[in-house]
Amino acid sequence: MTRGKFLAIAGSSIIIGGVTYYQRSDKNNFVRADTKQKETTKTPLQPDEREILFLASLAPSGHNTQPWFVKYIEPYHWIIGNDKSRWLPGVDPAQRETILSIGAFLQNLEYAAGNLGYNCQFDITATTNQDENIIDVKLTKATKIITYDIEQIKHRRTVRSNYLSDVIKKEDSSYLINEETDFIHYIPNTSKEHQWLNEQTIEANRIQAYRDAAQSELANWIRFSSKDAAEHLDGLTLAGMEIEGIPGWYLRNFYGKENVMKKSFREQSIDKVVKQVSQSAGWLLITSKDNSVATLLETGKQMQRLFLKIRERNIAIHPMTQIIEEASTNQLLNNSVGINEPVQFILRTGYLKNYPEPVTLRRSVEQFIRT
Ligand SMILES: Cc1cc2nc3c(=O)[nH]c(=O)nc-3n(C[C@H](O)[C@H](O)[C@H](O)COP(=O)(O)O)c2cc1C
Repeated sequence: MTRGKFLAIAGSSIIIGGVTYYQRSDKNNFVRADTKQKETTKTPLQPDEREILFLASLAPSGHNTQPWFVKYIEPYHWIIGNDKSRWLPGVDPAQRETILSIGAFLQNLEYAAGNLGYNCQFDITATTNQDENIIDVKLTKATKIITYDIEQIKHRRTVRSNYLSDVIKKEDSSYLINEETDFIHYIPNTSKEHQWLNEQTIEANRIQAYRDAAQSELANWIRFSSKDAAEHLDGLTLAGMEIEGIPGWYLRNFYGKENVMKKSFREQSIDKVVKQVSQSAGWLLITSKDNSVATLLETGKQMQRLFLKIRERNIAIHPMTQIIEEASTNQLLNNSVGINEPVQFILRTGYLKNYPEPVTLRRSVEQFIRT
């Protein structure tokens, strides 16, 4: 064999080997549309009950832990519970965000039930954020149907990239905030408070990225591979974090929990936050009158009402909660933004040119119902 022939054969073997390797690799991000409805285990759920609980579960939650479960008492009578195994003690030691997320779940539930012709009777049973039973829910047939466009629930999503820097138009901010002006505050990107929130969001992310308790907790909730994502149906997927293309392929195939603890990963996450805060129309802050369980549930509902309204105006929201989570930044927050009440949500906001479809995963109703 001549040298030239040998090199040609060797070269094509490498290419074929490479192509075969690629073909066998984890080629695509696993997204919500890929979720197959699992063969359902037998539950006593009526079709309307299943639909309402499925729509409720499309609510957002910190790290997409989906910290709820549903105790089935009898048809149309449930207790919504707080799933301790899904808490985030590293960033949310008092379960404040857990209760806010359960509030968002309740808002979806109420809209979905109303649209199917049910009134909801809610009785809060929890007195602390740690109680297992949060709220008793009874659905009764309504005499008058309050229709709600459930497509808004199905298409809501967190968006993290490509925000435009145009400020929110007056008519849009009035539409979003209308009856909630006491609690929802828009801080446009032209204000000095906006600058403070940008800088301190970066600072709080830096502190958190180097706090091992927070970082290893994050590592436990990142689903790098499609297999991991499909198995858990929760957590932070690469699609959810908007990591696509070659970087996505690389992370899906070669990354695991241990990489999250490396300096390079921590630094890259901070760089990403620097880029994110440089793009926005400003911030939306949601405050509450106090920190009781009932108030946190109501604030979670309020956040969700806002979140469900934005897409039709091409507006995105990105919760960035680190300033509240880190004590050294949190203690400066109220004074720096000139607000007296507790701040429960810090939401980066902005217009989008193209609004992507939701991609984050959810467990099936069967996985969070307890009979
Ligand atoms: C209480 C709460 C806190 C959150 N904090 C953050 C955050 O700090 N950073 C972030 O990127 N997303 C945050 N999120 C967004 C979630 O990660 C997101 O809702 C979840 O991954 C599900 O995605 P979806 O909203 O597109 O359905 C938060 C959401 C909630 C409800």
